[in-house]
Amino acid sequence: MQILQGKKILLGISGGIAAYKTPELVRRLKDKGADVRVVMTEGAKAFITPLTLQAVSANAVADSLLDTQAELAMGHIELAKWADFILIAPATADVIAKISAGLANDLLTTLCLATAAPVAIAPAMNQQMWHNPATQNNINTLSTWGYTFFGPGAGEQACGDIGLGRMLDVDELVDLTCQQISALHKNETNTPKEQPLAGQKWLITAGPTREAIDPVRYISNHSSGKMGFAIASAAQQLGAEVTIISGPVSLATPTHCHKISVTSAIDMHQQAMTLATEANVFVACAAVADYRIDTIANEKIKKSHDTMQLNLVKNPDIVADVAALTNKPFTVGFAAETQDVEHYARGKLARKNLDMIAANNVAESGQGFNSDDNALTVFTANDEKVLPLTSKSELAKQLVQHIRQKFENSLKS
Ligand code: C5P
Repeated sequence: MQILQGKKILLGISGGIAAYKTPELVRRLKDKGADVRVVMTEGAKAFITPLTLQAVSANAVADSLLDTQAELAMGHIELAKWADFILIAPATADVIAKISAGLANDLLTTLCLATAAPVAIAPAMNQQMWHNPATQNNINTLSTWGYTFFGPGAGEQACGDIGLGRMLDVDELVDLTCQQISALHKNETNTPKEQPLAGQKWLITAGPTREAIDPVRYISNHSSGKMGFAIASAAQQLGAEVTIISGPVSLATPTHCHKISVTSAIDMHQQAMTLATEANVFVACAAVADYRIDTIANEKIKKSHDTMQLNLVKNPDIVADVAALTNKPFTVGFAAETQDVEHYARGKLARKNLDMIAANNVAESGQGFNSDDNALTVFTANDEKVLPLTSKSELAKQLVQHIRQKFENSLKS
């Protein structure tokens, strides 16, 4: 059976240029068996007509809170109850701000307040607006409340800027919707749940960091964040209260995990140092850039010379700084190596004062960065355990159980 078969998806469209992609999004969700109803803001109607969305969804489009005819057909509370899942795509900075402020001054924001269904938000805005602390604050608030963010992606924007803020492609949005709905379905059917991590706070860093060179360029790496997110999901499913500090990734936030989005190593360090004192377990899964640019140029650097030098300075070592705290959580690091894995991993375990290190050989094909599979050898000061090649989600479950066992032993000793 198709994952979306019979699922009732409410698509909220707000006023961004990416709204032109939504008829295709509706069509693709319907192809997968979903029943789709569309709600449009006034801004959305400046970019695409309700008639188009009505034609592709085969349902009347709702666009007003105060329309007596529409309220008679399906009132706003009824519509909020109808939805199994709400996807807002594109979501402007404005609509995100309104939802995080609890406003209900149009139909879409009212539905968000009135629904018990999970809500996913696909942001679409200019990169400067995305990075604005007001927007980042709103996103963190909504993540805390259980909203999921699909993207945004990076690249060239309609306004000509380059950076984070593009709405994800329709294919990615459909895949993430399927992933999210199937994860929710699994959570519902997996009862009664074993909750051995209930009462524990787990803090996890994930994904890459980006080190700005100038307003449009940065240095980064290929980390997808998949391993960190899989660990977060596995720990949450066992009852832990999980916070992910994530660099820029295109992954759905696992259900009931709190995600804090960061960009640079300095941002990630600051968040980790603030939150680590509260955590019982800290897992440093992020691929943190070792260096950042000494002085970020205010303007785009012109290519007027044949060569150029960038001055780099070392970033703080987040996991080592957490492990140096007086009241440190049980601290787990990762080591991605291309040779002599045990030697380098054990070196890092000791040097960074970690309780555990999970090492993988990234030179082996089919595992590690950006792959869906991975294998790990996990070292503590006294022993080692091999977790053989398998999917990152299965591997994460095994690793979480291993961390749990070692953490609980450490409390006894
Ligand atoms: O030293 P190396 O980068 O190989 O160590 C990898 C481990 O250290 C990972 O757990 C990574 O998340 C963490 N790390 C960090 N801050 C850095 C560099 C690495 O937390 N600046």
